[in-house]
Amino acid sequence: MCGIFGYVNYIVDKSRGEIIDILLDGLQKLEYRGYDSSGIAIKGDNPNETTIIKRVGKVRVLKEEIASRTHSDLDRSKIFNSHAAIAHTRWATHGSPLTVNCHPIGSDPKNDFVVIHNGIITNYKALKSLLESKGMVFVTETDTECIAKLFKHIYDQNPNIDFNQLTKQVLYELEGSYGLLVMSSHYPNEVCATRKGSPLLLGVKTDRKLTVDFVDVEYEDTKKSENNFGLSPSAALNGGNGHAGLRTTGSRAFLTEDQDGQPSPVEYFLASDPSSVIKHTKKILFLEDDDIVHIHDGELKIHRLNSKQIGEETKRQIQDFEMELNELMKGTYNHFMQKEIFEQPESTFNTMRGRIDFDNYKVTLGGLEQWMPLIRRSRRILMIACGTSYHSCLATRSIIEELTEIPVSVELASDFLDRKSPVFRDDSCVFVSQSGETADSMLALRYCIERGAITVGVVNSVGSSISRQTNCGVHINAGPEIGVASTKAYTSQYIALVMFALSLSSDSIGRRSRHEEILKGLQKIPEQISAVLQLEEKIKKLCNDHLNKQKSLLLLGRGYQYATALEGALKIKEISYMHSEGVLAGELKHGVLALVDKDLPIIAFATKDSLFPKTMSAIEQVIARDGRPIIICNENEGTISGMDSKTMAILEVPLTVDCLQGLLNVIPLQLISYWLAVSRGIDVDFPRNLAKSVTVE
Ligand code: UD1
Ligand code: BG6
Repeated sequence: MCGIFGYVNYIVDKSRGEIIDILLDGLQKLEYRGYDSSGIAIKGDNPNETTIIKRVGKVRVLKEEIASRTHSDLDRSKIFNSHAAIAHTRWATHGSPLTVNCHPIGSDPKNDFVVIHNGIITNYKALKSLLESKGMVFVTETDTECIAKLFKHIYDQNPNIDFNQLTKQVLYELEGSYGLLVMSSHYPNEVCATRKGSPLLLGVKTDRKLTVDFVDVEYEDTKKSENNFGLSPSAALNGGNGHAGLRTTGSRAFLTEDQDGQPSPVEYFLASDPSSVIKHTKKILFLEDDDIVHIHDGELKIHRLNSKQIGEETKRQIQDFEMELNELMKGTYNHFMQKEIFEQPESTFNTMRGRIDFDNYKVTLGGLEQWMPLIRRSRRILMIACGTSYHSCLATRSIIEELTEIPVSVELASDFLDRKSPVFRDDSCVFVSQSGETADSMLALRYCIERGAITVGVVNSVGSSISRQTNCGVHINAGPEIGVASTKAYTSQYIALVMFALSLSSDSIGRRSRHEEILKGLQKIPEQISAVLQLEEKIKKLCNDHLNKQKSLLLLGRGYQYATALEGALKIKEISYMHSEGVLAGELKHGVLALVDKDLPIIAFATKDSLFPKTMSAIEQVIARDGRPIIICNENEGTISGMDSKTMAILEVPLTVDCLQGLLNVIPLQLISYWLAVSRGIDVDFPRNLAKSVTVE
């Protein structure tokens, strides 16, 4: 998904080369989000000029393009005491990945206003028609160009307008979602930044100790209706004077000053996520939807698009963000995905750390404690998610129902919204998301909030939209996940959801022994995952010798292992591009059996639980049709050890409690998808057409 990065230095000498390097480095840190092109905008040689450089392909291609520029074309040594610059990685939505469609996008050939944008402007066609009727010529296929042109159009009507007022006027016209940065030759060294439905944060770097660790929000009573574009073109578009209206609260802007009250040096970093900022500063401020940041002469102001609502937070906290950069590095691994698969003994332990007292069989989820009585009284639990996160819900639905006796339904966020499913005040809606930013899940969350349900997040990214907008929740604490294929987030979500079930049912005396059994099982999970990871060499050989040449693959599972089959199939298709399908073993005879022959690889989960005999019967049916399945079973499972000659491989995993077995069974699948992709020469961390964080519907 698109990545946003901005850099502003104020009374800090930086050469153009240094500024470019900061921008490119910021973009590289955002690469994991998935993208198809990138670009930067910096000051030109004349004060009234902005230089935009953009390219289709990886940031590396942009870097090469910049390096190829001659000194007279791009003087890297030129020093800027104050400067504003923006940069972007684009994941094409409106308009194919062509250089002309890359961001930054200028308003006109002179680039009076330059914009980078993450999200979708849904009314761009109407805006485009109106702007074209006023003589503007569009050169890109993007929705973003109408934003840049709106800035220019409104400014040209009223050149005295303040930059943040101008931004407001533009935003009144936009419908859709955005994370947006704007710079302009009319406002040198200034940047305006805003968000609606797309993440955006800001880092502050200064040698001075911060005297305050917050920024006041500034409100103004501007009437939106006056400026609504809709069917009657707005005052702003027709040359309104941009009158600001009355201030309803005073504002203390964030400003670094020395002892004499003189402005002191400061640098600001704007980004769609912290990974690109923490190298420079740990002082981070997360923006809310409709915040408009205005950076001007070293001063940081936050304005609101609309007037103050009752109960609205009037400050934005500057927090010390604790994630370390080395947490984001690959270490000795070849890919982030491999690193993250091998981190699971540690990440699963971290999910439980400080939350489970194994001596007294007690689970404490600090983020849910106060809400537990309400959640226990819910009529239903709805679990809502996308992709891998959806599979972690499927994997745990049964144990949540068993322990709580509350009916649970599991929903794909997009389908849930399409159906406009009924939601009631006595429902608890659980949103599971690694990134906490997935647009479909966010929209479903808003839908449930509007209907008064209790909302619970199970999220990896602290400070993300879902984490902040849910009533309560659990951070899974798996650490940053960079590989597009989600691995460690799955196992940690799974554990967090099992802990959720245990917490919800902690007052049930009748379930005590089941609780103890599960908790003893959880305690052993990290070391058991380490044992499964030992299968890597065997799996690598299996992939190179057999699976690599295949076109398609089936995964058979039932009961708890149906979710593992679906998750395994998703991993394999997203990373190795091999068609793979998770099939409920009980459904085999109702259609899928037609596909079975001696060639089609079939992976079957035959770990020991109450459904083992039925799974074995499905495996026998496959073998009877000359199929040679790959069986994932428990160690020393006599029934299966004797089947060596009839199988392609037997992968043994340790035995655990039935409801936790999926945590171990999924690991060989993660390794299979990884090694299949490697043997096919695929860029594992950046599979084609996929993004880590999908922030559009
Ligand atoms: C919290 C602290 C942790 C500290 C521990 C000690 C944070 C992020 N966590 O962990 O550093 O060691 O207390 O007491 O500060 N929340 C949501 N929605 C979500 C996820 C979380 O609303 O999707 C809320 C929770 O309700 C809670 C807060 O965020 O109010 C922190 O959640 P979590 O990190 O899970 O809480 P603790 O494990 O108690
Ligand atoms: C994307 C990713 O589709 O979003 C998947 O490619 C991920 O790996 C899905 O599972 C949901 O993301 P999240 O962040 O809400 O868990």
